[in-house]
Amino acid sequence: MVSRPELIEFQGEWTTHYFRDNWENIQNFKARQDDVLIVTYPKSGSTWVSYMLDLLYYGQSTPQSPRTGRLHERVTVFEMCFPGPQPESGGPPPVYTGTEQLDNLVTSPRLIRTHLPVRFLPKSFWDQNCRIIYVARNARDSVVSYFHFDRMSLVQPEPGDWNSYLHRFMEGKMVHGSWYDHVSSWWEKKATYSNLHFMFYEDLVEDTGREIDKLCSFLGLSPSVEEMEGLKGTVEFDSMKQDMVVNQVGFPWMDTKISSFMRKGKVGDWKNHFTVAQNEEFEEDYKKKMKNPTLKFCNEPVSGCK
Ligand code: PPS
Repeated sequence: MVSRPELIEFQGEWTTHYFRDNWENIQNFKARQDDVLIVTYPKSGSTWVSYMLDLLYYGQSTPQSPRTGRLHERVTVFEMCFPGPQPESGGPPPVYTGTEQLDNLVTSPRLIRTHLPVRFLPKSFWDQNCRIIYVARNARDSVVSYFHFDRMSLVQPEPGDWNSYLHRFMEGKMVHGSWYDHVSSWWEKKATYSNLHFMFYEDLVEDTGREIDKLCSFLGLSPSVEEMEGLKGTVEFDSMKQDMVVNQVGFPWMDTKISSFMRKGKVGDWKNHFTVAQNEEFEEDYKKKMKNPTLKFCNEPVSGCK
């Protein structure tokens, strides 16, 4: 059985044992040239873009060619190391790791998702010049989404109350570390690593089709008009919320009575959570941490930034 872990510090980064127990295999992982990586800070649109890639590379589910398995079996969560259910016959539960899943994956290219910061990404991915897609989401909506996720995900540490959670986020004491360092260092990496496509969650909400077009040109894919129309429909929020491939309903480690994985999918939901005082404090702290003038986020509901 899974249980809520403690937050631990590992090589200067906050995490839990679920993402470090397989560390040696992660660091020694052998990437392939055609591996495609989706990198995000948690709650920034990883599932959304993973599903787009899965559909672009492997097509829609049809009666002739039905989709098998859920998204996490098809787009591997790289650093995961989770125990499976206790076998009825007794004995220790199996342990599922991202690296082992990738070794057994028969599809190609391998689609891999990760929350690793730049400095922890195994060297082999850089050496192989793999395509990397980074998806960033504004800090306020990220922390709100993360808070609700931590309430319902039983493999995350207890979130505590909203105000203390928000302050912990500002300190970077979150599983997968600091949002500020994560997005800034991946943004800066773009200058020296050309096979990196940087996307924003808010742009995806504003015009999904336009962002899929850009993604396709980065990946060198040319879906037909019909395929694009089908894809856009399948990855709409309401459609994904009902879709068992992605909505994480029925996972033993998610208590969807507390909150849904596919929760709201909006830009600006933070306004329903931040008090005026919290917002002012957050903004002051944000300005001190986010000094790069070229990295700009939209915090407002669609079109609010235009
Ligand atoms: S995780 O757990 O880190 O992998 O989460 P991640 O998939 O990165 O992010 C989850 C948030 O993305 C929202 N989401 C979407 N928004 C709009 N449209 C679509 N199709 C979509 N798919 C996922 C999801 O609802 C989470 O955000 P919140 O704000 O909590 O709703």
